[in-house]
Formats: sequence, structure tokens, C-alpha cells
Amino acid sequence: MPKQPLNIFVCQDCGYRSVKWLGRCPDCGNWNSLAEEATAQRIPGNRKRPAATAKTIEEIDPAPEPRLASGLSEFDRTLGGGLVPGSVVLIGGDPGIGKSTLVLQVLDRLARTGRPVLYLSGEESPQQIKLRAERLSVRSPDLFILSATCVEEIIDEIKRLSPEILAVDSIQTIYTSDLSSAAGSVGQVRESAARFIDFAKNSAVPVFLVGHVTKEGAIAGPKVLEHLVDTVLYFEGDRGHVYRVLRAVKNRFGSTNEIGVFEMKDSGLAEVLNPSGIFLEERPRDAAGSVVVACVEGTRPLLVEIQALVGASPLGTPRRTSLGVDHNRISLLSAVLAKTLKIELGTQDIFIKVAGGMKVEEPAADLGIAAGLLSSFLGKPLSQDLVLFGEVGLAGEVRGVSQPELRLKEACKMGFRRCLMSRRNLEGVKNASGMELTGISSMQDLFRCLFKPFP
Ligand code: TYD
Ligand code: MG
Repeated sequence: MPKQPLNIFVCQDCGYRSVKWLGRCPDCGNWNSLAEEATAQRIPGNRKRPAATAKTIEEIDPAPEPRLASGLSEFDRTLGGGLVPGSVVLIGGDPGIGKSTLVLQVLDRLARTGRPVLYLSGEESPQQIKLRAERLSVRSPDLFILSATCVEEIIDEIKRLSPEILAVDSIQTIYTSDLSSAAGSVGQVRESAARFIDFAKNSAVPVFLVGHVTKEGAIAGPKVLEHLVDTVLYFEGDRGHVYRVLRAVKNRFGSTNEIGVFEMKDSGLAEVLNPSGIFLEERPRDAAGSVVVACVEGTRPLLVEIQALVGASPLGTPRRTSLGVDHNRISLLSAVLAKTLKIELGTQDIFIKVAGGMKVEEPAADLGIAAGLLSSFLGKPLSQDLVLFGEVGLAGEVRGVSQPELRLKEACKMGFRRCLMSRRNLEGVKNASGMELTGISSMQDLFRCLFKPFP
């Protein structure tokens, strides 16, 4: 490889280019924003691309992509029904959450269909991988293992082996000798990923890239790759809990927000086919502040328990702490309750937690959170067979949410008998479940329904 200075440093914020690295971009003034990049001449394959020709939309063959299913239904559904040939799937997550375990299990399933599959690890030796594989009962004869970190060597080996599926664990350990920066830096991660993406597109081989989420630092996280790949999955969960959620945050071949739920066992990840049951399993009876909300993640309904704890604060500035819910939403909902119901929440500490280590982002959980806050503040438990869904606006109005029937069906299946929702949702819904449904439109209505009579 010629050693002429063909690499440049580019500011990731404003695009300023420099031949040497600078701590601060002279153009936009941001610190630490320059990353090394290979110039166009250097990227192999860039020189002799066939001429691009535009087609009319009518000319394009709509042949549906045949998808490869791994047989792990939680995983396949998260991808939108299986793996699309030539697609690049980024799997991000905290270190130690179970990404390598998941990828190895999925590759094993795919290899059992008789396709040669390559698991490339830059982190573990083949012996370590073998040990893990024994534990997971992974022993497909078509699963190949390679420990390497130099992308040029890897591509040579891939050409020799011609696998039909490739996984790279993790992209932060892979480097190209074309760049002088360290493995894991923004430039290296992007350039190595670009080589694998190029490979996927030219060979129609699906590629998994594993990426560790990192705090700010010298190692680039999966965020720098999100716009380059087809699908981004995040593997999340609390390391103190055994449940893990695989969430699609970007998917060119399916819907986003789709989730798959797994349980981490001694023998690896097991699918959880009835997550509502799991998340409600340890719900306390008659506890003030405990409430069940009906969420929808992608195409799947999910009931989760949210717990609220409200108590007089010894501090000048009361605390607002939440696990699994954005804390801005807690501030917002408590302000709405304080304003519309004249309840003194301003002097109270507020803690909110989603049971089971789940994360709830849907606005449909607003109504449930508000009910939990009221219940804990008044010290009055809510009815055990009540479930809620609805968005709450700043004026205290209760708004409709999507897919009410799906939520009701799941609630009915899990044995709930009563449901509070927005009036608009109630008008549109066919009540096939036999549940007692109540439509409400304000925080006053909510209070009245939960703890009649309204003062
Ligand atoms: P790992 O897949 O190595 O995480 P990542 O690749 O995301 O860094 O998983 C690490 C954790 O999973 C580790 O703490 C041990 C646990 N684990 C199990 O509980 N059971 C198992 O069968 C395996 C392989 C791992
Ligand atoms: Mg790993």
C-alpha cells in the first residue's frame, strides 16, 4: 500500500478538512471533532464504478426480497420478518448485555439451514468462542469462526470462504491499515464498516455489525454508523435483570419500534413469548402508585406495570427521578396535575419506575403515569383489574392513541376487566372483549373515575 498522505482529517460537525489532526476545528470552533478519513482515491472500488442510470418507477422490478428466517421468532420479527439478502444490520448495546451471545445463537440457527456462516471476532480467541458455544449448545458444522482485526486480511479470508452470512463482533476492534488512527476511532470504525457494507451490497451477503455503546471517549459508538446501515437494533435491558429487549430503531425493510424480548439464562438467551405475563408477574396487590398501562411496541401489544412514589421532600428542590421513563415527562405530567387538579406536587419528591427493567417511550403511557402519581400522592391503591392508555396534553386533555383494539385485546387476555382511555378512542373502538370501557377527556374525569367523588 503506498504511504503517501492520502488521508485527511474532517470535522464531523462542519466538514472542515485538514491534512493533520487538530484538537479544535478552526472553522466552527468545536473541540475534538476532527476524524481521520480516507480520501476518495484510496477507497478500493471507488475508481471504476459502472455508470449510474436512472429508471422510471414503473421499470423497477418489485420482486419481494426473499428473507432468511433464523427460527428465533423474537429476532426475526424485530427484523421485520427475517434477514434481507445484502442488508447490513447494526446491533448496538452496552458492553456485557449479551450481544455476542445473541449473534452466536442467531448464526447457529442460520447455519443449521446448511448455509456457510462466518462469525468474525476481534475480541475473543477461537477457544473463548468455543467455550461460549459449548454453553449455548452451538455446534453447527457450517458455522465458521475467525479471530482477526485487520479488515484487509478479513476480506481476503471472506473471499476464500465465501460465507452466505457474516457477523463482525465488534466493529470497534476492526481496523484498516489505510488509516493511521487507532482501532475504535471514528475514522476507523466508519472506514471498516464501509468496507463491510460494500461487501454486503456487492455480494448480497447479509452482514451483522456489533457495536458497543460507549460513553464519550476515544471509542466511537454505533451512532456514527446508524446512517450507513440498513437496520439498527439496540439490545437493551438492565444488567441486574434477566430480561433483555431487542429494539429496532431504524429499519429499511420493516417497521421500527418492533421489539423482541429475551431472557438471559445459563444456557444463553431464551425467547419470551408472553412478555406481558412476565412484566406483570410480581405486581404487588393493593399497593398505592402501582398501575398497569397498555403499550404497543411496533406490532406487539405489551402490558407493563409502572410504579410511582410521591412523598414530601426534605429538599428545597424536590427530586424527579425515573427509571425506564424520560424524566421530562414526569415533570410535565406532575405540572399538568398540579395545575388542573390544584394538587400540591411542587413540594413532593417523585420517583417513577417501570417494573422489570423495561423502557416505555410511548405517549400512550401518560394517562397511566398520571394515575400512578395521583394514587401514590393520595395513598389510595387503584383497582387491581384496571388498565389505562392515553396521551395527556398540557391543558390536561386526554388524547387518543393508535391501535386501541390491539391494546384492549391484550388487556383482556391478561385478565383485566376495566379500561380507561380517551373519549375519542372509545368512540372508534369495537368492544369485542366484554371489558368495562370508560372514555375520559380531562384530568378531572380521570380523578372522578379513579377516586369518586371529585372534590
Ligand atoms: P456477552 O454476549 O458477552 O455480552 P456483549 O457481547 O454484549 O458484551 O454476554 C455477557 C453476559 O452474558 C455475561 O455477563 C454473562 C452472561 N451470559 C449468561 O448469563 N449466560 C450465557 O449463556 C452466556 C453466554 C452469557
Ligand atoms: Mg461481546
